[in-house]
Amino acid sequence: MQTKVVLQDEKNIDYATLKEAGDIIKKGGLVAFPTETVYGLGGDALNPESSRKIYEAKGRPSDNPLIVHVCEKEDVALLTSCVSEEAKAVMEAFWPGPLTIILPKSDKVPYETTGGLETVAIRMPSHAVAREFIRAAGGYVAAPSANLSGRPSPTLACYVLEDMDGRIDMILDGGDIPIGLESTIVDLSGDKPTLLRPGVITPDMLEEVLGEVEIDPTILEGNSKARPKAPGMKYRHYAPKGDMLLIEGTSEKVVEEINRSLAKDKEAGIKAGVIATRENAPFYNSDIVKILGGKDETDKIAASLYRCLREMDDEGVEKIYSESFTTEGIGHAIMNRLLKAAGYKKITL
Ligand code: TXA
Ligand code: MG
Repeated sequence: MQTKVVLQDEKNIDYATLKEAGDIIKKGGLVAFPTETVYGLGGDALNPESSRKIYEAKGRPSDNPLIVHVCEKEDVALLTSCVSEEAKAVMEAFWPGPLTIILPKSDKVPYETTGGLETVAIRMPSHAVAREFIRAAGGYVAAPSANLSGRPSPTLACYVLEDMDGRIDMILDGGDIPIGLESTIVDLSGDKPTLLRPGVITPDMLEEVLGEVEIDPTILEGNSKARPKAPGMKYRHYAPKGDMLLIEGTSEKVVEEINRSLAKDKEAGIKAGVIATRENAPFYNSDIVKILGGKDETDKIAASLYRCLREMDDEGVEKIYSESFTTEGIGHAIMNRLLKAAGYKKITL
């Protein structure tokens, strides 16, 4: 299969191209598209054959359910047997935007899309290209992140192409992605709202609308005995190829410890790199130092994280040492992704 890449500017949408992309989805094909969080790999959410193709293109286990993307709040009604008051309230507060809600599924949603579950994940993105593409595709687009299973989610179209060339019909290249981490997921299908995946919409923000929100204990703990409620969270994805370790402590101690490890790796002929804040970066004795952003620039840190992990892969880095961040605000999502990338390996000094 030839994968066609077309530019699509959020500020100057080319509707002819979007119609072409929409027709591909309607015929059961696959199109990757930009959203405000990461690039998605879209197929017709109501067509079981399309969902099967998505799993195949990603090399993803088919028990890992897909998020259904809509372009209007009203479109949720077709997907669920119950739009609760809670659901209406969060949709009003956070949609369009980086929040996915889990609701009981209707008969219209095939089990192929929900990975066999009785619930469905739904999100209405704010990215204009995503919204207009979903509309052109008939209104219901199932889309996981557009990476091969196990690789960091793509924040640039060139990374989608790297993973998906020859596997999908089209890529809509919308340039840089503003957020760079996947949407927050909140489960509203049970007795209590539960956060399944942290993102830019934080638990505090959700609690303002929903009252108390439970937090899945597996989010920051690798050794937790509990099974993550979002099936996808059990896989070690977001993973670079190199062996990764997080180091937590004061800047001085972290720099000292990482430099000690770098010296040992150099002796052993191991290619090692560092994921750093701008403030600490000059002090590391390595040629490979990736700067995520300044210590307080958490939005920038989130936006550059996956690109840094991919660059480490591209440069063949075998060991990756990363600084650790606060779990306040979006830091909760950053640390969740970093810990998963590191297989939860962290030392505290
Ligand atoms: O920001 C995002 O959400 C991006 C963009 C493309 O929208 N999509 C994304 O999809 O991150 P994916 O497939 O990479 O992650 C979806 C997560 C998985 O961990 C999956 O297990 C969980 O959502 N999920 C989907 N449906 C679910 C359900 N019914 N119950 C619990 N978890 C669900
Ligand atoms: Mg993903």
